[in-house]
Amino acid sequence: MGSLSAIPQHIAIIMDGNGRWAKQRGKERYEGHIAGVDSVRAVVRAAARNGVKWLTLYAFSTENWGRPAAEVDAIMELFCKTVMSEAEELCSQGVRVVIMGERSRFSTKVREMIDHIERSTAEATRLTLVLAFNYSSRSEITLAVRDIARKVSLGEIRYEDIDEEVISAHLMTRSMPDPDLIIRTSGECRLSNFLLWQASYAEFYFPEVLWPDFDEAQFDKALEVYAQRDRRYGVVADEE
Ligand code: FPP
Repeated sequence: MGSLSAIPQHIAIIMDGNGRWAKQRGKERYEGHIAGVDSVRAVVRAAARNGVKWLTLYAFSTENWGRPAAEVDAIMELFCKTVMSEAEELCSQGVRVVIMGERSRFSTKVREMIDHIERSTAEATRLTLVLAFNYSSRSEITLAVRDIARKVSLGEIRYEDIDEEVISAHLMTRSMPDPDLIIRTSGECRLSNFLLWQASYAEFYFPEVLWPDFDEAQFDKALEVYAQRDRRYGVVADEE
């Protein structure tokens, strides 16, 4: 009964339901994203309080570029504003921020904000907050395969030495542990191109609550659910 460790070292969250939350209140979709930032603040606080070391948030997928331009612009603007207003506080809470995703498509301003938040929090050690921003798992894996193939062609890696460790070491998550717990809010039960390789042994939790309603109490509930799970990693449990 119970997991090897009651507190997950790494929690990854698909923050879903901002649009529905806004619609239910007769608001514009972007207002749901604004409300979602309060939930980001709450889970960062709760993760740090509980001793979680890694928190990854799916903030913008590569597929999200297909949304109406006004909504994409609003998310980019919100990202920049949030980075500017939160950098100091995050740093003083001991939160290091890392942005994970393909950066070339961002505007200069967004790239400057990414540099700013990563540089200003680089020394923090209590919690690492990874924002998956223009991230998708298939494209991450494709880039890794391409990189490994290039190294094989240059003689830097022998093809027979390619194993799971080599692949992991070429992913954007190379310096991170795999997620122990993946949460997706809003009742949807899909991974949507998020951490497909890394999720191999993760526990999943799909609360019905929409992301802007996900607060510290909801986070604590997720930890409780996780603590009840029996993680076996493909082997049988010890005889009782
Ligand atoms: C999913 O809800 C949410 C997003 C695609 C964007 C999440 C972004 C934020 C919370 C703000 C980003 C900023 C920072 C600083 C992390 P949805 O729009 O898909 O909701 P729906 O499924 O109800 O339409």
